[in-house]
Amino acid sequence: MEIRLDDKVAVVTGASKGIGRATALMLADAGARVLLTSRKADALEAAAAEIGAAVPGAEVGWVAANAGAPESPAAIVAAALDRFGALDIVVNNAATNPYFGPALDISDAQWDKTFDVNLRGAHALVREARDPLAAGGGGAVVNIASIGGLLVEPGIGIYNVTKAALMHLTRTLAQELGPTVRVNAVAPGLVRTDMARGLWEEHEAAIAPRFPLQRLGEPEDIAGAVLYLVSDLSAWVTGTTLVVDGGALLRG
Ligand SMILES: NC(=O)c1ccc[n+]([C@@H]2O[C@H](COP(=O)([O-])OP(=O)(O)OC[C@H]3O[C@@H](n4cnc5c(N)ncnc54)[C@H](OP(=O)(O)O)[C@@H]3O)[C@@H](O)[C@H]2O)c1
Repeated sequence: MEIRLDDKVAVVTGASKGIGRATALMLADAGARVLLTSRKADALEAAAAEIGAAVPGAEVGWVAANAGAPESPAAIVAAALDRFGALDIVVNNAATNPYFGPALDISDAQWDKTFDVNLRGAHALVREARDPLAAGGGGAVVNIASIGGLLVEPGIGIYNVTKAALMHLTRTLAQELGPTVRVNAVAPGLVRTDMARGLWEEHEAAIAPRFPLQRLGEPEDIAGAVLYLVSDLSAWVTGTTLVVDGGALLRG
């Protein structure tokens, strides 16, 4: 059975590369009209062109916006409504990790940036989008968290706190927005993207064989989980976090 999203409009944040771009491509390939957003206009333009080339007939727009800025949600929702006239799907994928080190040594500015982008921005975008999401009767939100939000890891503790909070925000909003809007999360393990490059590039050969599925993740592995969670196949699923990690979590 093929998953189709014809007549759906989706917004994907952090969509210029990595997991966000793969997700936008997969949603477009399933028939959705997609608005890409992240900070850099040139990267968004390139990603939109790439998706347009890969999916003939795809309707793809973009708007540059910082997910952590208070004015961004209104601009993003307005861009989706102006371009496509509706909004059915929000994928909160943008995230940042400006600090590596002991949790207690993070500066206030680094703390604020991490929480503003990873958590407050996701909350604010759903708040801004809730009416159009509900209007179609089958709205879906997917928040991209991390298995780091289920673990305690050195160096990225505060980033992981935002991801743990994002999973709980997912449950909280699922309770509040049903039955018209479903809210779920995906918790990826280590995926071969720029954001995680420092964690995998020099260590892949050593790390990958330790996972039950014996490889690191590709952006498409996460995009597939998002596609399921925004489609009618998951019509009775809300408030859950789907771990997609090649089995990494089994080892703790
Ligand atoms: N890769 C992994 O191993 C892994 C594991 C667990 C969870 N995740 C999560 O997966 C999501 C996607 O990460 P990725 O690995 O695909 O990263 P990536 O390849 O580095 O892509 C990050 C995307 O987010 C955008 N972005 C960054 N800061 C932003 C901001 N303040 N406002 C708006 N957009 C912003 C970037 O574009 P601009 O720089 O142009 O804004 C880019 O489009 C994140 O939520 C991340 O925490 C990743």
